Amino acid sequence: MGEVDGKVAVLTGAGSGMGKASVKVFVREGAQVVAGDISGAEKDTAAEVGGSVLPVHCDVTQEADVEAMIQAAVDEFGRVDAVLNVAGIADGFLVRDLTMEAYDKIMDVDLRGVLLGMKHGIRAMARTGGAIVNWSSVGGLNGSAYTSVYNAAKSGVIGATKVAAIEGGSLGIRVNAICPGFIHTEIMGAHPEHMPGILEKAVLGRGGQPHEVAEVASFLVSDRASFVTGAIIPVDGGWAARLA
Ligand SMILES: NC(=O)c1ccc[n+]([C@@H]2O[C@H](COP(=O)([O-])OP(=O)(O)OC[C@H]3O[C@@H](n4cnc5c(N)ncnc54)[C@H](O)[C@@H]3O)[C@@H](O)[C@H]2O)c1
Repeated sequence: MGEVDGKVAVLTGAGSGMGKASVKVFVREGAQVVAGDISGAEKDTAAEVGGSVLPVHCDVTQEADVEAMIQAAVDEFGRVDAVLNVAGIADGFLVRDLTMEAYDKIMDVDLRGVLLGMKHGIRAMARTGGAIVNWSSVGGLNGSAYTSVYNAAKSGVIGATKVAAIEGGSLGIRVNAICPGFIHTEIMGAHPEHMPGILEKAVLGRGGQPHEVAEVASFLVSDRASFVTGAIIPVDGGWAARLA
């Protein structure tokens, strides 16, 4: 029996990186999955992984899309047991070069998208209970140059996760956040050579693989994590534990 056997999970960012890896891990562990993404690559993920995956076009910044994605899980699989808010974007610039266009773009996906996923996830799970896992970042815990808006959004995810965990407690909805370190995905990990020393930030001395984060998400959704809520969990090879 799989870790999340029989559960219905809705994931965003399912076309790439940790979202795609999470689809694979959740199906391996027995879940039925709604795989949402804006790119169209969610269809490739579904084709690659096979049965039990319903690809859905979803722009997480659009409330109607998020609501429809959650409804698709109810229509196809009968209910929702978990929502994983994985989708995210990043961009780098100095604070003095900040534009409001960049602010809106990053905040809309990285914070508004997570809040919308939680809103409609909680509504769908209010009577049955369930679990939400939000993707923050080590950048939500600490700073680095060039990432002011990204870090602000990811810190916001941590704050909103704690609030939703408090509100979700009486509904049997657990809400946790994962803070990945450097993970080899499209968003940044494809070219670590452009960030000298980045791999050595982790005390394990390497970047992470997408599935290593997905495995933690599977645990958090599973009944094995039944007393874990409001937790902010680095999955970063020890990066966040260092002073410098
Ligand atoms: N890769 C890392 O090192 C790292 C580190 C810390 C945190 N994170 C966070 O982890 C999450 C997953 O990142 P990843 O590395 O797998 O990224 P990725 O770029 O490989 O995948 C992100 C996915 O999100 C989708 N997406 C982007 N905008 C969207 C929108 N508006 N609506 C729906 N989908 C949208 C993209 O199409 C893509 O498929 C992100 O929230 C990211 O900020 C990544």
